[in-house]
Amino acid sequence: MKMNSSFLPIILLSLFLFLSFPSFSLSVRCNPKDKQVLLQIKKDLGNPYHLASWDPNTDCCYWYVVKCDRKTNRINALTVFQANISGQIPAAVGDLPYLEILQFHHITNLTGTIQPTIAKLTNLKQLRLSFTNLTGQIPEFLSQLKNLTLLELNYNQFTGTIPSSFSQLPNLLAIHLDRNKLTGQIPESFGKFKGGQIPELYLSHNSLTGPVPRSLGDLNFTRLDFSRNKLEGDVSFLFGKNKTIQDIDLSRNTLEFDISKLEFPESLTSLDLNHNKIYGRLPEGLKDLELQYLNVSYNRLCGEIPQGGKLQSFDVYSYLHNKCLCGSPLPDCK
Ligand SMILES: *[C@@H]1O[C@H](CO)[C@@H](O)[C@H](O)[C@H]1NC(C)=O
Ligand SMILES: *[C@@H]1O[C@H](CO)[C@@H](O)[C@H](O)[C@H]1NC(C)=O
Ligand SMILES: *[C@@H]1O[C@H](CO)[C@@H](O)[C@H](O)[C@H]1NC(C)=O
Ligand SMILES: *[C@@H]1O[C@H](CO)[C@@H](O)[C@H](O)[C@H]1NC(C)=O
Ligand SMILES: *[C@@H]1O[C@H](CO)[C@@H](O)[C@H](O)[C@H]1NC(C)=O
Ligand SMILES: *[C@@H]1O[C@H](CO)[C@@H](O)[C@H](O)[C@H]1NC(C)=O
Ligand SMILES: *[C@@H]1O[C@H](CO)[C@@H](O)[C@H](O)[C@H]1NC(C)=O
Repeated sequence: MKMNSSFLPIILLSLFLFLSFPSFSLSVRCNPKDKQVLLQIKKDLGNPYHLASWDPNTDCCYWYVVKCDRKTNRINALTVFQANISGQIPAAVGDLPYLEILQFHHITNLTGTIQPTIAKLTNLKQLRLSFTNLTGQIPEFLSQLKNLTLLELNYNQFTGTIPSSFSQLPNLLAIHLDRNKLTGQIPESFGKFKGGQIPELYLSHNSLTGPVPRSLGDLNFTRLDFSRNKLEGDVSFLFGKNKTIQDIDLSRNTLEFDISKLEFPESLTSLDLNHNKIYGRLPEGLKDLELQYLNVSYNRLCGEIPQGGKLQSFDVYSYLHNKCLCGSPLPDCK
């Protein structure tokens, strides 16, 4: 029987494919487009040792620091952590359209600005570019990534102001912009987050100035860290009986207000106000709180420390360097 000669090229092609891609089989999950993009990323990062497992002859769903979605088999996570990688975030990261988690964490030699192609990653839920040496402004376009729940850009060299449009992100649970060189004011809009959840807000160790916007008093934050900035004025509106704040650090600013009349929510467990210009007597209401941490040192407080509750479980270092604060654990009032 003579074989139909038109089949021959197909047979030869199949044989060629089989021989040149030994791992080619029906069970390969990796999407070829994603593989191509990942190999481009590897190349752009200078073929680092960290990505040695990214071998073009193997299934990219099983490569180091990436994950494939179970249903679509598309790359949905790229999480590079503690790698000896030098250079910038490659533009190709924007060509992984199914990405939900993008992380470059603890990479000292990662430099440059936030890669603009990240704007294309509309499915992104977590963006974590932290403990890196990124510079430039924090771009406005991040507020178009409506699925973001975590925006973590801390421990970098970012300058400029905080985009006020971040308050438009409907699903945010946390904004961590601490340990940068950010300037300007905390946006007024941060008192009007669009989402169902009020995100935790970490803005510490920057150079933020001006008063904390009053609008922030309209929200029930649970965690705020504004420490080590240049914030000034009154922040009494962050407190009140009907709030749900648990943990608040306002230390090392130039806040100036009378603490005497403040009412604290029952939820408060950690209060750090050290190094400000806060004056007045410590309110009796502090005794009613289940405080685990308190620091009011280096202010201008006066009068007797309320006696009772947890207040005497803290040592003198929680109260030192005030104008005329007295009573246990400090020396008796005269
Ligand atoms: C970073 O770059 C410096 C200088 O090029 C190099 O000495 C160092 O080994 C690199 N990697 C890390 C992880 O520090
Ligand atoms: C990082 O990689 C560079 C070049 O590949 C190498 O010279 C250097 O020693 C590495 N640094 C560390 C801390 O591993
Ligand atoms: C940024 O780079 C400097 C020196 O190049 C280094 O000392 C510093 O630790 C780096 N920052 C981070 C967060 O890795
Ligand atoms: C957010 O994710 C959902 C699925 O989790 C998706 O349907 C939706 O298109 C995404 N939103 C945007 C703005 O892309
Ligand atoms: C919270 O309490 C303040 C006064 O303590 C009051 O003005 C405000 O309306 C209250 N807000 C809510 C939402 O209960
Ligand atoms: C904060 O939450 C408490 C308890 O859920 C609620 O009573 C209060 O009205 C809320 N306050 C604001 C300002 O939303
Ligand atoms: C309170 O803050 C001061 C000033 O930063 C510090 O010296 C002290 O150790 C702190 N106290 C506690 C209990 O952490």
